[in-house]
Amino acid sequence: MATILLAIVIATLFTANPISCAKQSKITGMKMNVIDQCWRLNPQWRSHRSQLASCSIGYAGKMMNNIGNDLVYYEVTDSSDDPINPKPGTLRYGASMIQQKVWITFKSDMKITLAKPLLISSFTAIDGRGTNVHVANNACFMIFKATNVIIHGIRIHHCKSQAPGLVVGPNGKVISLGQVDGDAIRLVTASKIWIDHNTLHDCEDGLLDVTRGSTDVTISNNWFRNQDKVMLLGHDDGYIRDRNMKVTVVYNHFGPNCNQRMPRIRHGYAHVANNLYQGWMQYAIGGSKEPSLKSQSNLFIAPKSGNKEVTWRKGSNENGDRWEFHSVGDVFENGASFTATEGGRVPKPNYSEEQRFKVLDAKSVRFLTKSSGVLRCTNKKSIC
Ligand SMILES: *[C@@H]1O[C@H](CO)[C@@H](O)[C@H](O)[C@H]1NC(C)=O
Repeated sequence: MATILLAIVIATLFTANPISCAKQSKITGMKMNVIDQCWRLNPQWRSHRSQLASCSIGYAGKMMNNIGNDLVYYEVTDSSDDPINPKPGTLRYGASMIQQKVWITFKSDMKITLAKPLLISSFTAIDGRGTNVHVANNACFMIFKATNVIIHGIRIHHCKSQAPGLVVGPNGKVISLGQVDGDAIRLVTASKIWIDHNTLHDCEDGLLDVTRGSTDVTISNNWFRNQDKVMLLGHDDGYIRDRNMKVTVVYNHFGPNCNQRMPRIRHGYAHVANNLYQGWMQYAIGGSKEPSLKSQSNLFIAPKSGNKEVTWRKGSNENGDRWEFHSVGDVFENGASFTATEGGRVPKPNYSEEQRFKVLDAKSVRFLTKSSGVLRCTNKKSIC
């Protein structure tokens, strides 16, 4: 049986047409990372979209709660937005109003300008594969007190801060939302979240914030560029609940033109593995309030001039404050350096069986991150 399956996979590899994907010219299937291998080699992925849920790794675990017989498929056909009374067919109707397990796709290429932050309900997958979907130029995504959310294949950019106002909450009822910073994706008390293959850039505040007791998050295959504050893990120095935060950051491409916070960690733990860092200005990875980091087999390419040091730490050793920054198997180019915590033990992620993945040699990071960001799966007959 296994042999037959393997034969089919290999046959598929060699008969499929050359692939047209955003950042890759020609990919040999075998070089894909483990998440992509799980679905991209199947030329019929369009008829089995929800199979994607079984492909996640890291702290989000497998997203099996997002699929099953009770799953509703919903297609976005209308790019307009009404934050209080969303019309059926709009993204907001699917993401906030539908209270069942829902898998959201897009009928065609679309530019969506949200009038208020989009509050995504639990058990929601937003799947932009095969279409070119922009969420841009005003409010963006927020996962507020929700769990089991997948965001895949969306271009989110030029997000702006929002004044307080009314908006449909994740429970489908109108709530009063306070002022919101201009982040592309903001997690507030959210758990079991998988953010994969999105392209995020040029926002007013940050690109991805994981805050207020959020945990069990995997951030994979994304492309972050043109941004001052890229990724914040942990709300603020005083928010103790973020001590339990666990985040996996894997196969992402940071840069060019990113300044700092890739990520910045407060209180919690981050496993940052097999990412590509194409320069930075202030620093790449930093933190405060006893953050814990295992930086593993990343490729850090320092900027040609300026700061070559990867890490930054605020107030370390004040009042006995301790940071655990550990580097294992990272590769440094252009004179990049990493100041690691001396002594102590490298904090292991302690992944469960469904979260575990093999971290590859940093020498393969260029391959592993080659198709980060939104994929272009335009040829309807070929693999993605
Ligand atoms: C994994 O387990 C070890 C041993 O119990 C512990 O010291 C470490 O902090 C754990 N790692 C995380 C991320 O919790």
